[in-house]
Amino acid sequence: MAVEALSVSPPALAGRMQRISVSATAAMVIEAERLRAEGADLVDFGAGEPDFPTPEHIKQAAVAALRENFTRYTATGGIAPLKDAICRRHAALCGTAYERAEVLVTLGGKHALFNCISALVDHGDEVILPAPYWVSFYDMITYAGGRPKVVAADEEHGFTLTPAMIERALSPRTRAIILNSPSNPSGAVLPPALFQAVLAICRERGIWLISDECYLQFIYAGAPYSVAAEPGARERVIIAGSLSKTYAMTGWRIGYALAPKPVIGAMLNLQSHSTSNPVSFAQKAAIAALEGPQDCVAGMLSEYRRRRDLIVSGLRAIPGLRCVEPAGAFYAYPNLKALLRPGLETPMAFSQRLLREYGVVTVPGEAFGTAAHLRFSYATSTQNIERGLQRLRDFCAAL
Ligand SMILES: Cc1ncc(COP(=O)(O)O)c(C=O)c1O
Repeated sequence: MAVEALSVSPPALAGRMQRISVSATAAMVIEAERLRAEGADLVDFGAGEPDFPTPEHIKQAAVAALRENFTRYTATGGIAPLKDAICRRHAALCGTAYERAEVLVTLGGKHALFNCISALVDHGDEVILPAPYWVSFYDMITYAGGRPKVVAADEEHGFTLTPAMIERALSPRTRAIILNSPSNPSGAVLPPALFQAVLAICRERGIWLISDECYLQFIYAGAPYSVAAEPGARERVIIAGSLSKTYAMTGWRIGYALAPKPVIGAMLNLQSHSTSNPVSFAQKAAIAALEGPQDCVAGMLSEYRRRRDLIVSGLRAIPGLRCVEPAGAFYAYPNLKALLRPGLETPMAFSQRLLREYGVVTVPGEAFGTAAHLRFSYATSTQNIERGLQRLRDFCAAL
């Protein structure tokens, strides 16, 4: 991570750089890397990415594309067969009816969100953001000149939200509402009724609903749901999606946006002046992922379910830790309020000592806008989960 570059003295930089910060996630990654370089034996719950390799048939499609010299610029917004494959897969999963002109292929879901927020949020606009939130939402909003209006989700009810909580945060400056279900970091899955209510608010007020579906297929009960399938949704909704987690393709950088044509046009314009097209042969691999056998996704999901059960029961067995059962994604987000004390007042302090003294990498809740939590990614082996839980038990017992 180019943290050194960001620490150039502020006067040399554009003002907008003062509106974003190096995240607590990045800070923990740097500390963990330093310890690892010194030979420390770490158990890493920090990484927000699948530990599985990309499935073989997807890799083979990229190899074939390279052999055929599919190595040049492509259309900026992605090749037509990939756009069609995205529409078809989304339709098959969620019952939506997007067309090619409503798709933009991006360099990961993060890029889709960055383009979308840049295209929609003006200086002084407010964006409603439920907490805990994924780190980058906050900085993308402030970078665009907007103001995040943070709404704390209800932890007692599984980090849920009610329409009333969203309504209380509305103002004449509200430009958009961001929902992320399943959530990183809480694993919460929001019910369709909440999406329907938020969609109704957005339609009534003429504001945008940005729905981040990066973990769409990683839900432990029920079928994937997209608000975009609701009647009248497509004029008000922007979907950000990604192949990164679903197909263990984090390094390939393929994501997408589904949105009304004028929004896609604006995002495409921005993309044409920054990254240009997503990587040519990664696009071919993405077609293979979306159109090929889907049992790899089900296989990963059932492994995540096993790991979730293991980590949640292990965390709940530690006196002082409370843990909502994640209904999706691959993160546990326990509350450690009862363990915070003088000298160990914050999740950041807790996480740092856990790393330095017991070699366990976690991400402190400050990164996600809450004050008493740690995020554990359980996209890691059962053996690592067991070793990490043992170390955490030892650390907590020694407090
Ligand atoms: C909630 C959420 N949205 C978007 C992304 C972006 O993923 P990518 O850019 O790899 O597609 C992530 C990655 O961690 C995420 O957790």
